[in-house]
Amino acid sequence: MYNETIMDHFRNPRNAGEMKDPDGVGTVGNPACGDIMTIYIRVTDDVITDIRFKTFGCGAAIASSSFTTELVKGKTLEEAIRFTRQDVSNGLGGLPPIKMHCSNLALDALREAIKDYRAKHPPQTT
Ligand code: FES
Repeated sequence: MYNETIMDHFRNPRNAGEMKDPDGVGTVGNPACGDIMTIYIRVTDDVITDIRFKTFGCGAAIASSSFTTELVKGKTLEEAIRFTRQDVSNGLGGLPPIKMHCSNLALDALREAIKDYRAKHPPQTT
């Protein structure tokens, strides 16, 4: 069901775990299955300099999250927010269609983490 790239990210997830004192945190649930994902980000000058994820999700969710963290690390918040689940699926060499909903989890949690960061760090107006 899963290709080698997906299995590699599933077996050796990159950037898994929690982050101490993150600049932004986002948690979402997957309405399709009830699984949960949390993304932590560290941001410097609008660039994601570090990212971690924690999930109670399936293998596809773990692989997508691992790949997503690699995809957005070093990107600006604006660049990161524009990635789609198709980008994640393509980067993993194609997720099975019934698992596409799983690839939303990390991106949705990332968007929540960016929202949280922006709420806590409003642009300076002086
Ligand atoms: Fe729940 Fe994949 S089945 S995230």
